Amino acid sequence: MAVRIGNIDLGEFPLLLAPMEDVSDPPFRFVCKQNGVDLMYTEFISSEGLIRDAAKSRQKLDIFEYERPIGIQIFGSDIDTMREATQIASQAGPDLIDINYGCPVKNVACRGAGASLLQDIDKMTAMTKAVVEATHLPVTVKTRLGWDDNTKNIYEVAERLQDVGIQALSIHGRTRSQMYKGQADWRLIREVRRNPRIRIPIFGNGDVDSVEKAAAWRMEYEVDGIMIGRASIGYPWIFREIKHFFQTGEYLPGPTIAERVSVCRTHFEKSIQWKGEKTGVFEMRRHYANYFKGIPHFKEYRTRLVSLTDVAEIHAVLDEIGEQFAMEEVA
Ligand SMILES: Cc1cc2nc3c(=O)[nH]c(=O)nc-3n(C[C@H](O)[C@H](O)[C@H](O)COP(=O)(O)O)c2cc1C
Repeated sequence: MAVRIGNIDLGEFPLLLAPMEDVSDPPFRFVCKQNGVDLMYTEFISSEGLIRDAAKSRQKLDIFEYERPIGIQIFGSDIDTMREATQIASQAGPDLIDINYGCPVKNVACRGAGASLLQDIDKMTAMTKAVVEATHLPVTVKTRLGWDDNTKNIYEVAERLQDVGIQALSIHGRTRSQMYKGQADWRLIREVRRNPRIRIPIFGNGDVDSVEKAAAWRMEYEVDGIMIGRASIGYPWIFREIKHFFQTGEYLPGPTIAERVSVCRTHFEKSIQWKGEKTGVFEMRRHYANYFKGIPHFKEYRTRLVSLTDVAEIHAVLDEIGEQFAMEEVA
């Protein structure tokens, strides 16, 4: 059965690209979309930044028609600020607004925001209600199991947020205290899903990094869809591989070197188009190693890729990688 968020039809068992700061920007989203992802989100955007009209926050509102359906994710600690930020974000024309109640970091931006709200469910509920009332768009939430081992309150959180009108919930199977350590535990996600009061889609998130795991956890934890973050960095093919398996029961072979080069190049070109040459070149540096993970002797190429500043020279190195390794692939 198709999964719906408001009027948005996500098809059967959708795959979602997790919001990731400094990663899930338009260039990265482009290559994920090419690989069949069903729903994407922007990086999280500070509500304070938005109402102050900070350039960095504004730029993150950029979305493109081909990205639909797409959600803009916002976070904040103050309810009035969140209300105002919701209105600004809605004007950017996304398909939905997502609230971040999962950020575990204690820096200035996240103080009192993100996962902190898991310590104050009354405030979290009031904030969510304010956001729902401030926009004509569906509102979704992304959060964690709870604050720490003693307060895994996601069951209650899910009910209360549904009651104030959220239309889907993505749950990262860790607590705030766990940060990114240990393993994600999806058992409570299943409990939320099994709660007879819950009518909204529940998406499972945390540690899905293979077709096998996606297939096993879909069955075991009964979620309505899966959200994938880290495993897609440098490997957007994970979406098409999982989708293919679900559609046919067969495993798709991994990308060839030529495909890796081609998608990495597309990502690079989109980065330059969207960010300008200097920032595009610079920010692409964090992605090269991921695109070519597992390829022996890649280090020397990586060293060159991350030190070059000239666009044509970077393209030439990508050409070289294609030629060099394609020969080895055949041999
Ligand atoms: C680099 C990075 C940036 C992230 N930024 C965000 C963010 O902006 N908003 C958010 O809700 N979660 C953020 N997360 C958390 C991810 O969305 C996701 O919940 C987490 O990585 C677990 O999923 P995974 O195991 O599939 O990566 C970030 C994670 C990483 C690794």
